[in-house]
Amino acid sequence: MNVDRIKGKVSTRIFIVFAALALFVIASAPVMAEESVSGKDLVEKARLDAEKAKSEAQKAMAEAEKALTEAEAAIAIAESHKEKAKEIKDNAMSKMVEAGYFPDDITLENKEGTSKAVFSHKKHTTREKLKCMECHPKLFIMKVGKDVVKKGRLTMEEMKKGKYCGSCHNGKKAFSINDIKHCRKCHPKSK
Ligand code: HEC
Ligand code: HEC
Ligand code: HEC
Repeated sequence: MNVDRIKGKVSTRIFIVFAALALFVIASAPVMAEESVSGKDLVEKARLDAEKAKSEAQKAMAEAEKALTEAEAAIAIAESHKEKAKEIKDNAMSKMVEAGYFPDDITLENKEGTSKAVFSHKKHTTREKLKCMECHPKLFIMKVGKDVVKKGRLTMEEMKKGKYCGSCHNGKKAFSINDIKHCRKCHPKSK
């Protein structure tokens, strides 16, 4: 083989390889371009979707905030009505007490009838300005003898634990049930 022929063959092969490469590039260029275009579209679409979702979320948030403000305003109105109603009820009850609707002195008697204590509504509500709620219904239900007395639960022992009269008559809010010099205040008829 002569050198020129070999050169010729080699350059032909090189040419073929280059030509094939060039063809491949030319053939794939539009595909690649298309791919990158649709990729851009996808990104743009996702961006638009995200923006839409964000604006919808913002709208929903604004609506929720508006509803909350309205609810709070309604609650404030309801609460002021409730306060007013309570005040009216308290005043009415105090008037009933003042008018003597409730026996001024209630006599509380133990089950066995061996002990008696007096309780004055007027002194506690009108004079001491205690609200009905401070005793009813958490300490006493509003019925003489129906609650603690008949059931035998209104005892000194319970009161010393801070129940019933003892929730106030503990030496802090009012004179103590434990002090011997105060027994007579509640048990005026005992020796
Ligand atoms: C310091 C506590 C206290 C306060 C304050 C108080 N009460 Fe009483 N109330 C009592 C006790 C004690 C009884 C008797 C409960 C029992 O026998 O179990 C009673 C009984 C009653 C009864 C039943 C009376 C009956 O004759 O059947 C009514 C009604 C009543 N209270 C209404 C009121 C009203 C209204 C107010 C507010 C204006 C008020 N009370 C404030 C302690 C209180
Ligand atoms: C704040 C009022 C109050 C004071 C103060 C008080 N008591 Fe009583 N006590 C009551 C009431 C109410 C009852 C239940 C009704 C009843 O049994 O007389 C009661 C019940 C009793 C009873 C009969 C039932 C039981 O629990 O044993 C005895 C005994 C008694 N007290 C003794 C005393 C003595 C002693 C003192 C003074 C150290 C005293 N009390 C101070 C309100 C009081
Ligand atoms: C919510 C609190 C409270 C409760 C419950 C309560 N008291 Fe009183 N009581 C007072 C206050 C306050 C005074 C006035 C201050 C003082 O005298 O230490 C008073 C005063 C009294 C007085 C003296 C009245 C006078 O002539 O000056 C007697 C008696 C009395 N209470 C009995 C009772 C009896 C009996 C009970 C339970 C059936 C009772 N209290 C429950 C708060 C209470």
